[in-house]
Amino acid sequence: KSGLRFYTTTTSLTMSTVSQDELKKQVGYQAVDDYVKSGMVVGLGTGSTAYFAVERVGELLKSGELKDIVCIPTSVRTKEQAESLGIPLVTLDTHSKLDVAIDGADEVDPDLNLVKGGGGALLREKMVEVMADKFIVIVDESKLCDGLGPGFPVPVEITPFCHEHTMRQVASLPSCAGCKPVLRMGSSSNNQVDGDEIAVTDNGNYIVDLHFDEPIKDARKMAEDIKKVVGVVDHGLFCDMSTAVIIAGSEGVYKKEP
Ligand code: 5RP
Repeated sequence: KSGLRFYTTTTSLTMSTVSQDELKKQVGYQAVDDYVKSGMVVGLGTGSTAYFAVERVGELLKSGELKDIVCIPTSVRTKEQAESLGIPLVTLDTHSKLDVAIDGADEVDPDLNLVKGGGGALLREKMVEVMADKFIVIVDESKLCDGLGPGFPVPVEITPFCHEHTMRQVASLPSCAGCKPVLRMGSSSNNQVDGDEIAVTDNGNYIVDLHFDEPIKDARKMAEDIKKVVGVVDHGLFCDMSTAVIIAGSEGVYKKEP
């Protein structure tokens, strides 16, 4: 395949014989092995794929193969996992510049633009990942799409104050035409819409998920427009941020770069 770089046969695997968790582990470990070096400041993503990258960082620190790194977690969940593995943590307040950040995604388009925030951590993820020299995305092939939108709703983090008003303002943007806004209920971390209580993010905010039937025509324009709505904190469109996407697919583990 042109434009794609495959890893060696040792990481080659087939979807049919390998579980989803094993695929996530393969890309999580591969990203850490390729991009995290001793002495670095590292951003740790959130979600079931990023979990394995955090696990690998912990493992390499314990074995002594990695030394003198500090990490910035993108959610309370990731912070707790990292602490349980003895990974030294810092914050953006003391370390504004990161060497690398590694995270999963909900959708990846051909330009490597992303939808993120299915786990409700989009704000901290974006704050950390935008400050990284390299942002490495780790996914299985099911996350690849031709156009963002129909495969996964776009999450928007909004302030609780008059949230119904803010939802209406977002949904009425011309660039969001056709979207169905749904306030996230239940746990913010699993994109539920059917719990009894409104989901609350680590930052004390709400999430509205924008559902689309058709692919989003101009994700960059939509990203700009949503960000301008007063009451919006941030959104899960991560445009022009990915340095590389490591993908576990039917033909093995491979990498795409913009
Ligand atoms: C959390 C995220 C996650 O990275 C995204 O939801 C992918 O998660 P998973 O690896 O569990 O599929 O953006 O806010």
